[in-house]
Amino acid sequence: MIATVRGRRSLEGSVKVPGDKSISHRALILGSIATGDSTVRGLSTGADVQSTASCLRALGVEVEDAVVHGVGMRGLRAADGPLDCGNSGTTMRLLAGLLAAQDFGSELVGDESLTRRPMDRVVKPLREMGARADWPPLRVGGGVRLHGIEYATPVPSAQVKSAVLLAGLYAEGETAVVEPVPTRDHTEVMLGAMGAKLTIEGRRVAIECAERLSPLHMRVPGDFSAAAFWMVAGGLVRGSDVRLLGVGVNPTRAAFADLLASIGVRIERANARFEGGEPVADLRVLPAPERRPVNVDGDLAAQMIDELPVLAVAATQAEGTSVIAGAAELRVKESDRLYAMEEGLRAMGADITASEDGWVINGPRDLEGARVNSWGDHRVAMALAVAALLADATTEIEGAECVDISYPDFFDHLDQLA
Ligand code: S3P
Repeated sequence: MIATVRGRRSLEGSVKVPGDKSISHRALILGSIATGDSTVRGLSTGADVQSTASCLRALGVEVEDAVVHGVGMRGLRAADGPLDCGNSGTTMRLLAGLLAAQDFGSELVGDESLTRRPMDRVVKPLREMGARADWPPLRVGGGVRLHGIEYATPVPSAQVKSAVLLAGLYAEGETAVVEPVPTRDHTEVMLGAMGAKLTIEGRRVAIECAERLSPLHMRVPGDFSAAAFWMVAGGLVRGSDVRLLGVGVNPTRAAFADLLASIGVRIERANARFEGGEPVADLRVLPAPERRPVNVDGDLAAQMIDELPVLAVAATQAEGTSVIAGAAELRVKESDRLYAMEEGLRAMGADITASEDGWVINGPRDLEGARVNSWGDHRVAMALAVAALLADATTEIEGAECVDISYPDFFDHLDQLA
């Protein structure tokens, strides 16, 4: 599908972004090994979370709209064939951890993009725990008892941390993960609520073997990473006034809001509350009177890894040179995001150069309408759509249907706001 986005339109009104993708995956996976039924309202409507639900169904778990019928710690059954994780790295890596500890073997497969993504980062710690684990193709599990390890993750990754913790639920002794930079902690929040024995000390999180987990009863907060697109659009297109309702603002996810504020974007929080053990707020976004450039290094990049494509768009409007570094991980996301954003924004008239691990962007530049490619990557498609709102004339985005991965209503919301 080619999406056509007209430029120079201010945005006004309120939207409710979809349920958080990271939290939705975890609620389904953890709910499936709880003892009893979990009720999870407001799950992400994206295709990635559907991939997790269908893998869990193949493993014998009944998953309905808002109810996961937990089968208990030992209730999963071998699937009839390979488990299809679609485009979803979170599905593949988290399930690899859970399934490495089962007494049956599993094979996890995915689409062309997922097949190219690195899985050795989960295979290595799982093997250290004594699991059978091979890649490629990714095969894990089968009749060995795991033992706890102390694992220092070389690359900050909430997916790797979560995979090791899930395996740790079944391992003898304590399993600990030490991260170089704190990553999203949704797995820890949920495991704590389910009664797992979890200890968190700074960047070290440790878990003990669990006999039983209590079911979850929660509402999933709105996805901060989806809201980020409207924060940039509302914060940079003159005359905008955007309200984002019920957005998850967990501090391990929300660093990007502070960064945008440092550029000059006004982001006001109201109705602060907790939902599903996670902080949530309504956000009002107003345009930046002046736009300062940004400097992002490795630690900060890890804390806003999913927001970096749309940050590149914001940087094209800043007065001066923005340097984003320490983000080599973007090369191994759903697409090579460093290349995809360089190519797309350059075609629109931006002064952007990709380095090995980031971009250098000189601004401000007036963006022009162009025909650009999403590379089948949902976050690239949405970031380029935000760039299109800033541009003169009209932009065509190829392969725009990929927004379905995390935000199926994205273009409807764009039309409502603009
Ligand atoms: C996610 C972790 C991040 C993020 C991804 C979702 C998660 O990936 O980019 O969109 O739900 O744990 P990494 O763990 O590879 O950094």
